[in-house]
Amino acid sequence: MHFSLLAVCSLLTAAVAAPAPSSKRHVVHERRSRLPTQWRKNAKLHGDSLMPLRIALAQSNLDRADEFLMEVSHPDSPNYGKHWSAKKIAETFAPSEETVTSVLNWLADYGITSDRVKQSQSLNWIHVNITVSEAEGLLNTKYYEYKHSSTHDTHLACDEYSVSEDVRDHIDFITPTVHFDAKIKNPRKKRSMNDNQIAVAKRQTAAAGHNVQPGIGHSIGSPGDASLPKDGGRVPFGTILSELENCDVSIVPDCLRALYEFPPYFPANPKNSFGIVEYTPQAYLPSDLDMFFANFSPSQVGDRPIFDSIDGGLLQTEVESFDYNGESDLDLEYGMTLVYPQKVTLYQTGDLLEGASFNNFLDAIDGSYCTYDGGDDPNQDGIYPDPYGSGYGVYKGPENCGGFAATKVISTSYAYNEADLTPFYENRQCNEYLKLGLQGVTFVYSSGDYGVAGNGGQCIDPVTGNYTNGTYGMFNPSFPGTCPYITSVGATQVKPGASVTQPEEAAESVIYSGGGFSNVFSVPSYQKSAIAIYFAEHKPPYGPDRYNTSEHSRGLPDVSANGVNYVIAIDGSFSYVYGTSASTPTFGSILTLVNAARLDIGKSSVGFINPTIYQYPGIFNDITEGGNQGCGTPGFEAVTGWDPVTGLGTPNFPRMLKVFLELP
Ligand SMILES: *[C@@H]1O[C@H](CO)[C@@H](O)[C@H](O)[C@H]1NC(C)=O
Ligand SMILES: *[C@@H]1O[C@H](CO)[C@@H](O)[C@H](O)[C@H]1NC(C)=O
Ligand SMILES: *[C@@H]1O[C@H](CO)[C@@H](O)[C@H](O)[C@H]1NC(C)=O
Ligand SMILES: *[C@@H]1O[C@H](CO)[C@@H](O)[C@H](O)[C@H]1NC(C)=O
Repeated sequence: MHFSLLAVCSLLTAAVAAPAPSSKRHVVHERRSRLPTQWRKNAKLHGDSLMPLRIALAQSNLDRADEFLMEVSHPDSPNYGKHWSAKKIAETFAPSEETVTSVLNWLADYGITSDRVKQSQSLNWIHVNITVSEAEGLLNTKYYEYKHSSTHDTHLACDEYSVSEDVRDHIDFITPTVHFDAKIKNPRKKRSMNDNQIAVAKRQTAAAGHNVQPGIGHSIGSPGDASLPKDGGRVPFGTILSELENCDVSIVPDCLRALYEFPPYFPANPKNSFGIVEYTPQAYLPSDLDMFFANFSPSQVGDRPIFDSIDGGLLQTEVESFDYNGESDLDLEYGMTLVYPQKVTLYQTGDLLEGASFNNFLDAIDGSYCTYDGGDDPNQDGIYPDPYGSGYGVYKGPENCGGFAATKVISTSYAYNEADLTPFYENRQCNEYLKLGLQGVTFVYSSGDYGVAGNGGQCIDPVTGNYTNGTYGMFNPSFPGTCPYITSVGATQVKPGASVTQPEEAAESVIYSGGGFSNVFSVPSYQKSAIAIYFAEHKPPYGPDRYNTSEHSRGLPDVSANGVNYVIAIDGSFSYVYGTSASTPTFGSILTLVNAARLDIGKSSVGFINPTIYQYPGIFNDITEGGNQGCGTPGFEAVTGWDPVTGLGTPNFPRMLKVFLELP
């Protein structure tokens, strides 16, 4: 939670008589070890100030969620492919009646009667407006105002809080308490921009020939976001090389088909569509699609993706440049060509002013996520109707909660640094990928383009926790790459001078494949043996000042695909691009073809693939050369077997198809 103290003070009401303190024992529920950088404790809050308290209720069966997912995703399970309905998932994980009653009784013990309490429809959380002194009694804590030294934002928080012993197991967490915003390390700057800063940004934008709203820091999709693909410059006129001999310098769709041995035309299954997520202001240009199709897939000229507009998502045409069209043009030109004639669904997410986050997208394909576990974080996620302005491209409609169907494979070429978000925020989102996996959806995410460093080359100072200039510091893996319930895709390249039949190596041109080990998520069961072998046979030469050496944390990426020298049509000409942003839709396309084949014979989609791919590493071309330098080190090395550079390797379609077709 993050809100202005003024708002709190303006809500002053007559103090409610404090009830006699309960005799039940308080136990500490959450405690913060240190203040996040730049936050300072300010004044104690007045006891009569009113604040909105939210209690996230413990869900039933969450401890068994991983087991449920393995049951439908592990190749040895007799229930492989028997995915769950959304209804079954909601019922299985809803807080129990006992949980709800215990928490309501606990509140009533403190004089907070049920008429003041609101419960979300999904029963996942409880909301009550409460005075600071009531909250201090209930939670046995003291509330303070905190101030951010550079943005001057204020925040209401305490150092620790307790709950009554008999409800501790029924409560996940309570806000506002010890949590600080994920957003602060990587703020969406718009909100804290003062008028002067806005004026400067507007002038800069105008000077650059841009008409859209001033840049908003680094919400995903903002121009300059380091997870976007890298511009390799124009392909010189007349030199588009479409022969297979030139795949080491120019990747075109036929190179990918040759490398991974998949066909140019795979009969369409009507139930099949490949989902590609884009975040406004990123947008594709129809004329670019046609230019690409005319050269590489002539029968598709005029073809467009199915367009799902989420939270006002629109195809802006105010600004046309690599920074605004590169990602979407790349994803759609390759995605649409490689899965042809399967359909492609474009999930265009967020309006022009505010933009959006992964959570906004997940809300749209699963309405229950909107309120799950306390709901979205208003500081990190887009809020709709957009409160920040009005006019063209500003979405004033309600936030999309459900209503959009999830495709079987969903490809996202954007990513955060794991260190930019809180573990709570990440766990909440990661559990959502698990639940969608239970429903048979595969998520592929790019692993990042800066090797062991984070977006833009950021590394972490081991002492201050600040980001360094990238020449030293701790490695900085990407999120959601570190979530064990998605498939993280790294990048490879054709070796200079080599042909498409020779093994590729880790990408080392312009970009370096993102990879490493999580600081938040422990190693999932399906990856345990691959990680153990990696450490036994190829222990990296770095200590805990560089990465999580526990040998028990989630490693990434899982797989890889070519990400170097892609030729795309952009803003009316052909350019080269680089990035795991390219690898991800390529890998997602191949899975979409596997799904088509399974659906054709009446089988389910592949869903969460990781347990299968780690069991059958032979369906990949193992990549054993190259590394992913970063933070002033050579990074990790690609080795035999799984490695934190290229994962299990690049796909071999015939072998992959065979394994997945044999599964029930
Ligand atoms: C690092 O963070 C501290 C606060 O924790 C801040 O005072 C300091 O200026 C930061 N250093 C740099 C080089 O940004
Ligand atoms: C708390 O107060 C706000 C602002 O007055 C109101 O919108 C909200 O519905 C209230 N919540 C509850 C649970 O009463
Ligand atoms: C990066 O920071 C380190 C430590 O402060 C310094 O020694 C180095 O010169 C800096 N390098 C660059 C390229 O700024
Ligand atoms: C290493 O990862 C584990 C999760 O597997 C985490 O619990 C632990 O805190 C991490 N260690 C460090 C030093 O970040």
